Order: sequence, then C-alpha cells, then structure tokens
Amino acid sequence: MVIRPLAEGVEVLAPAKLNLFLEVLGKRPDGFHELETLMVAIDLHDRLTLAADDSGQIVLTCDDPSLPTGAENLVVKAAETLRAEAGPDASKTLGARISLEKAIPAQAGLGGGSSDAAATLVALDRLWNLHTPAGRLRELAGQIGSDVPFFLDAPVAVCRGRGERVEPLNLNPDTIAGFHAILVCPPVGVRTADAFAGLTPPDRPEPIEPVIDALRSSDSERLGRRLFNRLQPVAERIQPALGRVRAALNDLGSSVLDGHLMSGSGSAYFGLARNREAAELAASRLGDLGIGMVRVVRCGP
Ligand code: C5P
Repeated sequence: MVIRPLAEGVEVLAPAKLNLFLEVLGKRPDGFHELETLMVAIDLHDRLTLAADDSGQIVLTCDDPSLPTGAENLVVKAAETLRAEAGPDASKTLGARISLEKAIPAQAGLGGGSSDAAATLVALDRLWNLHTPAGRLRELAGQIGSDVPFFLDAPVAVCRGRGERVEPLNLNPDTIAGFHAILVCPPVGVRTADAFAGLTPPDRPEPIEPVIDALRSSDSERLGRRLFNRLQPVAERIQPALGRVRAALNDLGSSVLDGHLMSGSGSAYFGLARNREAAELAASRLGDLGIGMVRVVRCGP
C-alpha cells in the first residue's frame, strides 16, 4: 500500500492481489479451511482518504452505492477493532471520516475489502497516534479477515493457516514487476463462504514449491505452467458463466498467454502475459466478448 499525507489526514492506495497458487489442505474444526497460497499484489488500487477527529464517530462514505457503509464493511470493522484496542473510553473520543473510492470489484477474489481494511488499520494507527506493535496489528488484521494480514506485508508472500499466517518472499522487486497480466472481472460474483462450502479437500494436495521456484526464476512460461487454484472448479459449478471466461482465455493460445487462472474464490480470472504488449493484445481480443471488465495489470507494489 502507498500512504501519502494530505492537508488534513492521509490518502492510501490499497492494492488488489492475485493468487498464483491456492491449495486447500483440509477442513479445520473451526469450520475454516487450512490453506497454502501464493499471493502477489497488483497495480489495481482502491483509494481511501482518512481524517481523524474527536467525535467518537466512524463515518464511511463510498462511491459504490451497492456496498454497505455500516459495520458490515471491513473498513468500519477495521476502524472499530483498532479503536477497541485503544481502551474502553476510546469510542467516546476517537473518530474518523473515511472516504472510499472503489476500483477493485467486490466478490472477485482480488482481496479488495481486505486491502481496504489493512489500509484503514495502518492509516488510523498513525492518525490516532496509537503506535500499535506490528505483531499486534497483524493479529488484529487476522481477526478482521483471513486475507487482511497479507496486505500489511505485500507485495508477495506465501500465506498459510486460514490465510492469515504470512511469510513474505524476499524477491527482487524487478522480478515480480516483470510479470504482466490481463484481468477479467465477470459481472457475477462468488461468495467466499460458498466456494469453500462446495469443496472436498484433496487426498494428495498439490505442492507449492514449484510455483515459488517458477516465480523466482522470472520465467513467465514456467510460472504459467504452474498456476493452480483448487477453488476454481467449485466456483465454475456455482457460476457456470465463469466457464466462458476460462474458455476465452484458453482460446487466446500460448502465443499470447503463458497461462491463466481464477484468483482466490473468484470470480475474477487472470491471464499471465510475458510482457505488456502480449497483455495489451489479449485485452484487445477479450474486450469485445462481453465477458466482463478487462484490464491490463502489473504485479508488484
Ligand atoms: O476470513 P474471511 O472472512 O475472508 O472468510 C470468509 C468465509 O470463507 C469464512 O466464513 C469461511 O466460510 C470461508 N473460509 C474458509 N477457509 C479459509 C478462509 C475462508 O472456509 N481459509
């Protein structure tokens, strides 16, 4: 994420993520699933502006009228979680006005809500002068949602547990910035809970190491062959229209894309391109098919 000071408050650019690999290792007693996933941030951002006051009110406005702006929005949940951490009297004094401009589609598997929540934690910790220790901020992030801690550590990490145990990968920024992708966001979403509910964990999970090695090699063809997402067939059963998106990416062929995959629990798909030109070519061919919003993105901070 990128934080910039404003005359009053701060502006934060909160990135989306792609899952280059996602395996489900099993179902846990708490109802969640044990995951192993490789996530990378991309240059598609929501924009938040936050200003602190002493009103005791947390007020969120959003340019997307389809999104809730009350306690069910992860931004408000993050602000309230952080404020509760500041002590019982904090809710009488610590207030914030937050404006959210959405560019990352919801229910797309791109982590938009989670990234907005991580941005809110970091920004309000600063504006409210709380100085929450980094480890505690990560714990709070994990309570808000499984993907939130990743965005405190992005741009590239292996995430385990529910997704909240983040191991950043120490890669040269140029390595990941070399990867371009074409993003397709269909007009239908998939609820994360539904995707997990429809899944039977595999007897023999796919290993994550080959995809990490492929990413390190900065070889897009090699990475393209290793893309994997256990949730993709489940999401395609829930929303059969998603099969058309996969077919359209497949039809572009290996001369344009090195591979393609659904991100997270869907419904967004991405095609991995070896350079910007290939991604632009893919975008021009996909743009007319009416399968969803098409956009060229780059990996990295
Ligand atoms: O943590 P988050 O709020 O993103 O999860 C949404 C839902 O997705 C959970 O309530 C759960 O049903 C499912 N989930 C899961 N295993 C995970 C992450 C999410 O079953 N590791």
